[in-house]
Amino acid sequence: MSIKDSLLVNVSPPVETASDKVTVVGVGAVGMACAFSILTQGISSDVVLVDMMEDKVKGEVMDIQHGSLFLKNPKVSGSGDYSVTAGSKICVVTAGVRQKEGESRLDLVQRNTDVLKSIIPKLVQYSPQTILIIVSNPCDILTYVAWKLSGLPQHKVFGSGTNLDTSRFRFLLSQRLGVSPTSMHGWIIGEHGDSSGGFPIPVWSSVNVAGVNLKEINPDMGLDSDKENWKQVHKDVVAAAYDIIKLKGYTSWGIGLSVASLVSTILRNSHNVHCVSVFVKGMHNLDFDVFLSLPAVLGSEGVTDVLVQKLTSSERCSLKFSAALMAEVQAGIQF
Ligand code: NAI
Ligand code: LAC
Repeated sequence: MSIKDSLLVNVSPPVETASDKVTVVGVGAVGMACAFSILTQGISSDVVLVDMMEDKVKGEVMDIQHGSLFLKNPKVSGSGDYSVTAGSKICVVTAGVRQKEGESRLDLVQRNTDVLKSIIPKLVQYSPQTILIIVSNPCDILTYVAWKLSGLPQHKVFGSGTNLDTSRFRFLLSQRLGVSPTSMHGWIIGEHGDSSGGFPIPVWSSVNVAGVNLKEINPDMGLDSDKENWKQVHKDVVAAAYDIIKLKGYTSWGIGLSVASLVSTILRNSHNVHCVSVFVKGMHNLDFDVFLSLPAVLGSEGVTDVLVQKLTSSERCSLKFSAALMAEVQAGIQF
């Protein structure tokens, strides 16, 4: 008799697929930051890694498994074969090429559309009820591509969008005031991008600490006339990716942690509000089939509600510009 048979009397079959199974597609810098953030925070007990580079997948899986003792023993697995993703509650898509120095996110659109064409149908084949979180850039456009390719309802497909930009915004604002980013409220909406004219839009009227609206204290906040130059915070958010790419070649930890927060909200059905890239047609009088970031309520089935913020005419104009730009780029995509 084996040690196991001598030691253990089995009383029920082991559960193979946990209800909180999360697939991360792409085991590059971003995908591994997402997976590591999810695992070290105990957000999922069952994480699957997929990539076309099978050896990298195997290496990453082994490497993380060796830390299981410190991770509440999650199931970590992976392959280049999408069958391992079966039954995933959430699929995070980070596969694709990233910007090189001097490239904009929009420059990646066709190359990464082609990548999604090889990924999305297989994810949905094995997990027809899954929720897709699109991270690959250009995030807003690829969220539209993923939605089209998946056949899933709109509320089950969204992009990480300006969840990261909002995090950067709140951090940089908080640094100026000496308060925690969790107490520094403010929202960046629109495009997770940097195209001329379209860019992440700071809703200055939303910036507050403990409900004290900062624009009521300084009505010039966000304007060129502002002596305190709070507008520089927005400029630093737009430049953040390029600054980091110039320094380390890519960004990863901020997006990894921000994606983990989205996964946590869904798995816990906690209805937190996140600024994520959602289908915006009909919102703020937008008449384009595009995805842009607005504050949205997330639950176990995906997007449950989108908040209707009071926007200035300038903010609405910027949102419309980005929507039109997304629609124009989408029109040129070869599906
Ligand atoms: P990376 O090059 O380190 O990793 C990309 C991974 O995708 C590689 O492991 C590659 O093998 C895999 N891959 C490529 N084609 C594939 C396919 N057809 N099937 C399966 N796997 C495939 O790149 P990194 O730094 O991880 O960035 C990934 C993406 O995330 C880029 O598009 C980047 O722009 C984007 N990103 C988005 C952010 C956001 O806020 N939305 C923030 C940071 C990066
Ligand atoms: C970012 C880019 C890479 O870090 O999307 O915002």
